[in-house]
Amino acid sequence: MIEPHGRVLVQRTLNIEESEALAQRADSMPRIVLNGRGASDLRMISIGAFSPLTGFLRRDDYLSVVEENRLATGEVWTLPITLAVKSDEAAALRPGIEAALIDQSGGLLGAISVEDVYQYDARLEAREVFRTADESHPGVAGLYAQGDVLIGGSVMALPQTPPDVYAGADYTPSETRALFESNGWSAVVGFQTRNPIHRAHEYIMKCALEMVDGLIVHPLVGETKAGDTAAEVRMRCYQELLTHYYPAGRTLLGTFPAFMRYAGPREAIFHALCRKNYGCTHFIVGRDHAGVGNYYGTYDAQRIFSEFDASELGIRPMFFEHSFYCRRCGGMATSKTCPHAPEDHVFLSGTKVREMLARGERPPEEFTRPEVADILITAAGA
Ligand code: ADX
Repeated sequence: MIEPHGRVLVQRTLNIEESEALAQRADSMPRIVLNGRGASDLRMISIGAFSPLTGFLRRDDYLSVVEENRLATGEVWTLPITLAVKSDEAAALRPGIEAALIDQSGGLLGAISVEDVYQYDARLEAREVFRTADESHPGVAGLYAQGDVLIGGSVMALPQTPPDVYAGADYTPSETRALFESNGWSAVVGFQTRNPIHRAHEYIMKCALEMVDGLIVHPLVGETKAGDTAAEVRMRCYQELLTHYYPAGRTLLGTFPAFMRYAGPREAIFHALCRKNYGCTHFIVGRDHAGVGNYYGTYDAQRIFSEFDASELGIRPMFFEHSFYCRRCGGMATSKTCPHAPEDHVFLSGTKVREMLARGERPPEEFTRPEVADILITAAGA
């Protein structure tokens, strides 16, 4: 089994007695209210998906991640996992105290042992991490909207019950590792997606599966930008697609409860390292991975992998070029394997697909499986 990033799978979830003890203490602690993104990060840390992180970054790690793509210890880590609060909330916080982490309806999520309270430069972070300071980039907009003080320190979280729609797929890294082991899969490829799975996605996954023992379809189910298909709808699409088109003994569907940053190249490395924590040995990176608009070049998210030693990443990327159905080839192909002109390729933009679905029309079978199209049409209210 592949080692987690930093060698030890972090586990920061409280048991029942510890949760009750925290609930008792929490009333007398300062409170930090987490939005959906903060709650997602807390969960990712607590289940070990962000190993070796045990909490939100302190200043030394933060600056090192932003400027060097590494934690202060030297481990590769490409996205700053931070807890931002407003200045008035920060007034009650100082190193050495414990603060309660609360959700937006007042429910206790966990606690942070405050180790650092610091200011940061959001524009610098935007330029380094997102390669743009433009606030129309959804990740940059999220960064500019957050508080101007960062709180660093280790966290502990209460166990969480996943929403029903994720039941049977809400595996933690230790659970996927156990499943891969019991299935006898030594080489496992992970597939990140924030979209319904179309034929191009299916093709690159199946090409990858030809070369390994197992595949985990690992949709991101945390917050995405407006306009992306809701995770609940996507889950129904994935279940239907896997039932009809994927080999049950070689495929697992699991949820990835992170939120999308749309940081392109840096997020591709981050996605890969997290999937290593889930036990994957390989990770698919296709065209414009984790990209948005025209902020990144089509293959920038592949190129960034060459900036690191293969041994320090541990997980092996599997790169795929832009893929499509070619009428002349009579099958799925990529620019690497098909000699024909773009006119022979079935290509639909996201906007075009949404328009068709809203009219109750199925996109061509060469683009989307009919079973998936039907779920999307119903969800579009057509
Ligand atoms: S992402 O934000 O999660 O990357 P998406 O769900 O669309 O977006 O993509 C999931 C994975 O499939 C990514 O690795 C992406 O690069 C890849 N991908 C998406 N569409 C294509 C395509 N037509 N050809 C090749 N790779 C693709």
